[in-house]
Amino acid sequence: MKLVITTKTKLTTKPISTSFKKITLDEIESVAQLERESSKNPWSKKQLSESVSNPNNLGYLLLVQSKVIGYIIAMPSLDSADILNLAVHKDFKRKGYGSSLIDHLSMNLKKRDIKTLFLEVRKGNFAASALYLSLGFEEISIRKNYYTKNSNQLSLKEDGIIMRLKIST
Ligand SMILES: CC(C)(COP(=O)(O)OP(=O)(O)OC[C@H]1O[C@@H](n2cnc3c(N)ncnc32)[C@H](O)[C@@H]1OP(=O)(O)O)[C@@H](O)C(=O)NCCC(=O)NCCS
Repeated sequence: MKLVITTKTKLTTKPISTSFKKITLDEIESVAQLERESSKNPWSKKQLSESVSNPNNLGYLLLVQSKVIGYIIAMPSLDSADILNLAVHKDFKRKGYGSSLIDHLSMNLKKRDIKTLFLEVRKGNFAASALYLSLGFEEISIRKNYYTKNSNQLSLKEDGIIMRLKIST
């Protein structure tokens, strides 16, 4: 049977409501849980609390239908900023949310006259590297053996790749 779609066809999929919100200490437990569920090397609750408590830092949550599904934290300094961490919940990956967190951060940094974004990523973190390259970040240097592979293999080291993105001309 041939399906004819007319302009009267009803949309059955509801639009997904997404929003950004500044991170406060009240949300640290949700962010810590998100970290544990999404990252191979999650930040601890203490690391997150210290980072969010620093008044110089800028952090945003991404909410989908009121549920925290992603976050980003950056440290501005003069006319540049460093992304300290970023994660998207495992069930929401590859839907553009990681990119939208970086876009949202960039938009707010530009308002502060910040021109360049830096970050550091483990060489083996292919998803994150692919995300950054897709947004136009370029590799500018390598920190040899900067990271410990993981807590079970303390002697195994991994390089850190430093990347840069110009966010205003
Ligand atoms: C890295 C991370 C934030 C990406 O978030 P995401 O919401 O899945 O990213 P996006 O959907 O915006 O991806 C945008 C593009 O990046 C690239 N990309 C992202 N994840 C990828 C993957 N696993 N493999 C290959 N390319 C990938 C693709 O080009 C993708 O576009 P496409 O889906 O149209 O092909 C997420 O994987 C994550 O939370 N990882 C664990 C925490 C982490 O490593 N943080 C970074 C610390 S430096």
